[in-house]
Amino acid sequence: MNLPVAADPLRSAVLDGLRASPKRLPSAYLYDATGSALFESICALPEYYLTRAETEILQRHAPEMARCIGPGALLIEPGCGSGEKACMLLQHLEEPAGFVPIEISPSALQAAEGLVRGRFPRLAVHPLRADFTASWSLPADLAPGGRPVLFFPGSTLGNFDPTQALALLRRWRAIGTQAVIGVDLRKDPAVLIPAYDDARGVTAAFNRNLLARINREFGADFDLQSFAHEAIWNDREGRMEMHLRSLRAQSVQVDGHRLEFQAGETIHTENSYKYTVEGLGELARRAGWQVAACWKDEQGRFAEHLLRA
Ligand code: TRP
Repeated sequence: MNLPVAADPLRSAVLDGLRASPKRLPSAYLYDATGSALFESICALPEYYLTRAETEILQRHAPEMARCIGPGALLIEPGCGSGEKACMLLQHLEEPAGFVPIEISPSALQAAEGLVRGRFPRLAVHPLRADFTASWSLPADLAPGGRPVLFFPGSTLGNFDPTQALALLRRWRAIGTQAVIGVDLRKDPAVLIPAYDDARGVTAAFNRNLLARINREFGADFDLQSFAHEAIWNDREGRMEMHLRSLRAQSVQVDGHRLEFQAGETIHTENSYKYTVEGLGELARRAGWQVAACWKDEQGRFAEHLLRA
């Protein structure tokens, strides 16, 4: 169904962001079918260590995580992507009550649902198509008695600024009594920058796909070649930033609006905050959680936290 323009908050956020100064775009817009597929390719890149580090943690420690979580968990994963990480945990959970994958991208949601149903034919899977940053509620037809456990890996928490991250953790607290949160840890920018600006240009294509998508969905006329992908370490904020830099002065038509770009002006498209274990613990406490356990990969690049109410 096509919603009227004014009723689609993400669509209005696109125009608002492009008319703001400095220009920005909502990062949830990165994940259409193309964007979700490109992101899966990013996860396999040699420079993008995050997925491998987290996979190592899950491979080694999922049995212990599952023991800590206990029986009857209803696993809820906002922004599940391919669903592969959930499988690594579900595999060890004792009699899980079900799995609720939540995705904004219908193609990714379908793929995740298919993967999990294929691997766990007897598990109750309740896919939810939603922008998890907007309001959503659990499906009404859930088996009663499950204990809701939020699963939020992939350093997705890092894609939100501290105020938003706090609000998300508070929301998870209102939904469940346990949460597994994976965050990327602070490290040398010489390692961070290539992870967001790989040699093959897959991350650049992922970033530029935002403009391609706006061209497609808004009938806009962005010239993709005149915007360069940039990944910057912002030390003061403790975050990686992704930008699209206009290589020349140009004007672009978007949804009937004419937007001016100066040469060198950027659109800020994404942040990826890097945490310390102490920083995440502090944020969790402010949101009403205790850190019950924390697991890192061998090189200490990434950390998986178990939070309890
Ligand atoms: N949470 C991941 C990260 O911060 C996902 C992500 C968002 C990402 N935007 C990205 C990964 C851009 C690579 C490039 O790393």
